[in-house]
Amino acid sequence: MKKNNIFQGIIFSLNFLIIFAISEFILWHSLSIRFLFNFSVIILPIWFLIIYYLINKHKIFKLHPLNYIFTFLLVIDIGIIINIFSLKYFSYPAVTPIFVVITITLMMDFYFGFLSSLFFGFYFSFLIGNPLKTFVYLFVIGIIGAYFSKKIYSRVRIIIPFIISTLFQIILYFVFFEIDFLSWPIIAISNLFQMLFILGILPYLEYITRVYSDIGLLELGNLNHPLLKKLSLNSSGTYYHSLIIANLVESAAEEIGANPILLRVGSYFHDIGKSLRPLFFTENQKGFNPHEKINPKLSSLILNLHVTKGQELAKKYKLPILIEDLIVQHHGTRIKRYFYHKSLELNENLSADVFKYPGPAPQFKEAAILMIADNIEAMTRSMKLVSKKDLEDKFDDLIQDLFLEGQLDDCGLTLREIKKIKDSMLETILNMNHSRIEYPEIPKELLKEVNKS
Ligand SMILES: [Fe+2]
Ligand SMILES: [Fe+2]
Repeated sequence: MKKNNIFQGIIFSLNFLIIFAISEFILWHSLSIRFLFNFSVIILPIWFLIIYYLINKHKIFKLHPLNYIFTFLLVIDIGIIINIFSLKYFSYPAVTPIFVVITITLMMDFYFGFLSSLFFGFYFSFLIGNPLKTFVYLFVIGIIGAYFSKKIYSRVRIIIPFIISTLFQIILYFVFFEIDFLSWPIIAISNLFQMLFILGILPYLEYITRVYSDIGLLELGNLNHPLLKKLSLNSSGTYYHSLIIANLVESAAEEIGANPILLRVGSYFHDIGKSLRPLFFTENQKGFNPHEKINPKLSSLILNLHVTKGQELAKKYKLPILIEDLIVQHHGTRIKRYFYHKSLELNENLSADVFKYPGPAPQFKEAAILMIADNIEAMTRSMKLVSKKDLEDKFDDLIQDLFLEGQLDDCGLTLREIKKIKDSMLETILNMNHSRIEYPEIPKELLKEVNKS
């Protein structure tokens, strides 16, 4: 285990020891020393290893393990404290895992929502007593809550996991504990409070952790963000380039099961760094190209700046951590061929590395899809009349170039997925650029026959 990982383990354990101390303070003497000892020495290390392993195995979470571990801990901590108060003031029917499981499922995924219900059930089963029954009761409600929180894209739909898990909770409470008609209003009100709490706190959790749910991503993508407004005013060419890419990536992502919402919103922001020097980018030039006046090395440095400045803006505005990745990785480590050739013509004797984008190459599928779409949009923008076959050949060449340059090595896309992405983008381009596509001529005789029939 690396030093960094040991540090994460210590933070993880310390966090829960503090939460135990808070629980003990609120409930006063309900936690036995034996319980604390068992938890700190046996349960916490095992628990940390499971979370650590799963986050580092996950195709996206492993890119920013600290952000995701922090998100997981923060939500569980808040959930435990709310429920400790519920337990103290409204007795145990008020204890419910729905805040924890719904929030974690929305911000991370179903499997981590499932894991959180495991931990929550375990923790409160010891506090409430009757460990096995309580554990099963809380765990089952948690799984139901997590399951129905999958694929929630709007705030109003949070009511679905709330209603279903509340109904199950009332039934399970009667089955496992007692048929007590004073308990069900407590369960319903406690769940309602936790659901409303999710709605209120989610944007703040997203802002702090930079781990965004699909709901948060969609709200960012409403084009009212100050960075997008600035882009549309300063660099209208880049703005429209970004909108076209958003259309290209969305259907491609759906084809291969990647995240279309992350990609759509990421496309809006991917060239945000261009708003600082818009005229250096072809899509914003109207007749005058400032690169003609400067040397190719400087041109390359200015082009790199749209990536590094974009990253700075993403940090400053607390954009989702994955959108920052999309900004940084969308050009990978590609060489700016035009400026490299210009430098060779000037006999400058510079290494090709001078003309590389800072990178890294795409590290996840969504970043690779964005890279492909970015290149396809730039290529088709300057195209004259072409046939569908020519267009497909050009797409093949482009993807082959990216492949041979090693830009797609780390993203996890399979060849079959790359083909699906290409087909989907071809379809979208054909639909969008209808007038620019040359169709085979239909013989006049055939047309007459079709019209007759
Ligand atoms: Fe770019
Ligand atoms: Fe771009």
